[in-house]
Amino acid sequence: MYNEKVVDHFNSPRNVGEMDAPDAVGETGSFKCGDTMTLYLKVTDGIIEDVRFQTYGCGAAIASSSMLTEMVKGKTLDEAMEITNKDVADQLGGLPPLKLHCSNLAADALHNAIENYRKQHGS
Ligand code: FES
Repeated sequence: MYNEKVVDHFNSPRNVGEMDAPDAVGETGSFKCGDTMTLYLKVTDGIIEDVRFQTYGCGAAIASSSMLTEMVKGKTLDEAMEITNKDVADQLGGLPPLKLHCSNLAADALHNAIENYRKQHGS
């Protein structure tokens, strides 16, 4: 049901866990299934230097979160803000139609974290 890339990110998620003293935290949840994701960012001069996530969700949600963390490292906040749920699913080589909503958690948590960062730092 999942392709190899999705299975790899699910079995060996990258950048998983909590972060000490993050510069921003983003949270989101799915009304559909109740799963949740928290994303932590370290930001220096407007660039995402480090990222970690904690996801309580299905395999597709964990794989999407893991893939997202690889996509955002080194990006500016503006560039990261452009990343869509579809971009994450595409980078994973696609998700089964019934699991597409799971990829929403990752990009939504990222956008929430950036919005929170901007509210706190005004940039
Ligand atoms: Fe809840 Fe996938 S079923 S995020």
